[in-house]
Amino acid sequence: MSTHRTVLVTGATGNVGGHVVTRLLELGADVRALVREPSTSRLPSGVAVAGGDLTRPDTLDAALAGVDSVFLVWPGLSTAAAPATVERLAEPARRVVYLSAMGGRDGERPVGFWGEMEDLIERTGLESTFLRASGFATNTLGWAEQIRTRGVVRWPYGHARRSLIHEKDLAAVAALALTEDRHVGAAYTLTGPEAVSQQEQVRLIGTAIDRDLRWEEQPRAKARESLLAAWGDPAFVDMALDGWAAMSDTPEPVTTTVEDVTGVPARTFRQWALDHAADFR
Ligand SMILES: NC(=O)c1ccc[n+]([C@@H]2O[C@H](COP(=O)([O-])OP(=O)(O)OC[C@H]3O[C@@H](n4cnc5c(N)ncnc54)[C@H](OP(=O)(O)O)[C@@H]3O)[C@@H](O)[C@H]2O)c1
Repeated sequence: MSTHRTVLVTGATGNVGGHVVTRLLELGADVRALVREPSTSRLPSGVAVAGGDLTRPDTLDAALAGVDSVFLVWPGLSTAAAPATVERLAEPARRVVYLSAMGGRDGERPVGFWGEMEDLIERTGLESTFLRASGFATNTLGWAEQIRTRGVVRWPYGHARRSLIHEKDLAAVAALALTEDRHVGAAYTLTGPEAVSQQEQVRLIGTAIDRDLRWEEQPRAKARESLLAAWGDPAFVDMALDGWAAMSDTPEPVTTTVEDVTGVPARTFRQWALDHAADFR
């Protein structure tokens, strides 16, 4: 890799971005982190911290000055501010690695905001790599409170089988795509090594914390109500519920791309649960 590239990491205080920062430091890159609250954000020493908000492109000048590559995490479900922000990124940067989703495209057709973001980035002519992730294993942190307080997970579609991916595997691929030239133009479908049902995920979390946990199937209508309250966007909620319904019949696909790119097999959900046991105790 070329060392001393300046890489701007967005979402650097988040699950994936935090590990992208760590991997880039290990690879010898100059790392700058975009954060909304520089005074309270804790990042490793050696990282330059720049304040800014991705949905307000006029706040990004200092963060973008002299940047070579950008790891892009687009926040929220609306892309209203994205065209101006992506255009602004493309001024100094020559490369963007975008954290997208496997469901963001139906053939050539963009689906939802992930596909829209990919199209926006492509139109800038930037060197790009799209990381089309399966579901994140960190999504199951949403069960942590129920597990801690009641030892029960109430959720719909217990038989839905997902190839959830460990955030460290996403970060390992992202760091290589940011610093090596061979990933330019790639759209990687990145998944965990196997599809595991949601009920089984709960059992594996129980094993990690040495506790018997119970699955309680939640009716779709009830789940829709609480997801609407949490996410706000009915189309996104229905897309998620339809996705889980479909995965009850046909599991989420599994690829070997993490291993193909990094040389190391993707981490299992069992491993993820052990790594996060403290979050569920
Ligand atoms: N969950 C899934 O299954 C899944 C699947 C595929 C793709 N994705 C994509 O993955 C991304 C989430 O990654 P993650 O789980 O690592 O994130 P996360 O842990 O939820 O953290 C979100 C990060 O985004 C930052 N952020 C939020 N709003 C911002 C803004 N307006 N301007 C600048 N930064 C902002 C936060 O920084 P602050 O410290 O400022 O809050 C934080 O670092 C999303 O783009 C999502 O679409 C998710």
